[in-house]
Parts: sequence; C-alpha cells; structure tokens
Amino acid sequence: MYSKIIGTGSYLPEKILTNHDLERMVDTSDEWIRERTGIVQRHIAADGQMASDLALEASRRAIDAAGIQAQDIDLIILATTTPDMIFPSTACILQDKLGISGGGPAFDVQAVCSGFIYALATADMFVSSGKCRNALVVGTEVYSRILDWTDRTTCVLFGDGAGAVVLTQSNQPGILSSHLHASGSYNKVLAAPGNICGGKIQGSPFITMEGNTVFKFAVKVLEEAVSEAITANNLQASDIDWLIPHQANIRIIKSTAKKLGIPMEKVVTTVDQHGNTSAASVPLALDIAVRDGRIKSDQCVVLEGVGGGFTWGAVLLRW
Ligand code: UT7
Repeated sequence: MYSKIIGTGSYLPEKILTNHDLERMVDTSDEWIRERTGIVQRHIAADGQMASDLALEASRRAIDAAGIQAQDIDLIILATTTPDMIFPSTACILQDKLGISGGGPAFDVQAVCSGFIYALATADMFVSSGKCRNALVVGTEVYSRILDWTDRTTCVLFGDGAGAVVLTQSNQPGILSSHLHASGSYNKVLAAPGNICGGKIQGSPFITMEGNTVFKFAVKVLEEAVSEAITANNLQASDIDWLIPHQANIRIIKSTAKKLGIPMEKVVTTVDQHGNTSAASVPLALDIAVRDGRIKSDQCVVLEGVGGGFTWGAVLLRW
C-alpha cells in the first residue's frame, strides 16, 4: 500500500511587508534583498494570530480539496519552529480548532526548515503501513515573532505562513521514497538559542545565523538528498517533472537545480512572494503549483528542504 496526497492548502496572513518597508526599518535596500535572496515581500501574522490559526486556514483548504471531512482525519503531524506555546503541541491545538474529537495521534515535529519534509516522511510511514487512514500534514510558522527587527542580516529573510496536505491510503503509487538526514554538529550555525528557565528567557530568543555557511551547506546537501531520491527509484534527473524546493533563497534554489541538471522551468519558486517561511515553505509552494494546474496526475515530483540542526531531506512522489 502507498500513501498519496489527495488535497493541498495554504494560507498567508493579510499583512504584507515589502522590501521598501524594510528600507525604513534597517540599513538595507530593495536592490540588495532582491539580488541576494530573490525576496520581494513577506507576510506578517496579525497580533495574536498564532501558528495554529495559520495552520487552521491551510488545513481547512487542504481538507476541502481532499473532499473529506475534518472528522475523517486520524493523524495530525504539524511541523513548526514557532509553536503557540511550550505545550501542548500546536498539533493538538489544531486538532481542537478543527473540531476533531476523539481523534488519532497528533504531534509536532521540530526540524526547522526541513520540518515539513520530516513530517511528510513520518506520516507516510503511518499511512502506507495501514496504521492511519487520513493524515493531515502541516507546516506553519510565525517567524516574525523570533526575528530581531534591528538585525538586517536576518529580518529581511523570513516571513509567516502555513501549508498543509491530506495524505491517504492508496493502491496507486504516491510517495515512493523519503530520505532524511541530520548533522547536529552544526547546531550553533543557525539557531534561536534562548530557553525559558524560572519564568525568564535565558540567552537570545532571536534567530542567529552564519549565512554563508548555511548557504554552502544547503546547496551541497540538497543536491545530495535529491540525487539519493532519484537513484533510489532508478530514475534520472530528466525523469523529474517538478522540483519543489524549500523557499529560502533563489540563489540556493538555482544553484541546487543547476548541480542536479534540472532546468528552472521544472522548479517551483514562490520565495519572491513570501520569503523564507521555514516549515511552511514547501507545502506553500506545492499548493500554489497544484492549484494553478502546473502539477498534473502521474507526474514525478521531488520535495526537498534544509534547515537548522542541520537537518535536511527529500521526498519523491508520483502525483
Ligand atoms: O532555511 C535555511 C535558513 N537560511 C538560509 O537559507 C539562508 C542562507 N544564506 C543566505 O541566504 C545568504 O548567505 C544571505 C542572504 C543570508 C546573505 O547573502 P550573502 O551573499 O551570503 O551575503 P554576506 O552575508 O556575504 O554579506 C555581504 C554583505 C556584507 O557586507 P560587507 O561585509 O561585504 O560590507 C553584509 O554586511 O552584505 C551585507 N548585508 C546586507 N546589506 C544590505 C547583510 N545583510 C544585508 C542586508 N542589506 N539585509
């Protein structure tokens, strides 16, 4: 038995922050941000709008697209780095907001920008093994809450948003393989190192990043993970119809595609419209390409992501 995606959904908060807006906040320019990252604008959650609220909108759209009811969901795996609270998990909060009572398991995955890839690979194991019937897999982030808005090296890069898919049991090929990796020795290179102790924040709660190190590492491991997926399925790069990369930086996306020999016409890019939305970026890009009709039945699709940890991975599927 396989697991297959039967519905996608995404949600971006209404408020838009453009590069020109950022020019008034830090010493940066629209030109620098566009050239170095490809980002034009990002979306910012309203005060009080939490990761679960964004997830709820994306999930409703995915459930509608799948043609099922929320009550049919018997597994929720939610990837986020910006949970509503320390506990309970944002997945449990989402389950409640969806009105699912007495449901199956619901839990969060923390793999930063690879979170959705990790969550999807995990859900596939539950569904394809027959343990669950309909999984809701979500990536949702309110990164605006963990950005230092005076640090131009990080605040221009990230945005808020959510994406979701419904994964169900199928006799037809869906997810063909997943390839997850981590290298914890890089844990300090990209981090929000603060923690809470005795009711007080210890250390910085804001994102810190060695941008150049992340950039080089990302291109190297994303190429490796996608190649691993292609080889594992006895395919060639030319067999890939769509590459859906983590939307962090257009230069990382182009460099990875070039190393893989995949033309940019086959790469879905949305980073210009919402910046790096971490765990939400892959399902957001997937939903946009599904809804505008680019991704068609039986096509071969590869999803990939890399993030803090470091963590990285790829999922290869037949649509
Ligand atoms: O999801 C995974 C998480 N993160 C990423 O994927 C990010 C990976 N890294 C990157 O995308 C890139 O490294 C950045 C976009 C963060 C930076 O681009 P870069 O080409 O590596 O620039 P740089 O860090 O080498 O900085 C070049 C210059 C520096 O000035 P000097 O030292 O050459 O005078 C920076 O201070 O650009 C300066 N700079 C800026 N200038 C204007 C850094 N940030 C900005 C800014 N506006 N926002």
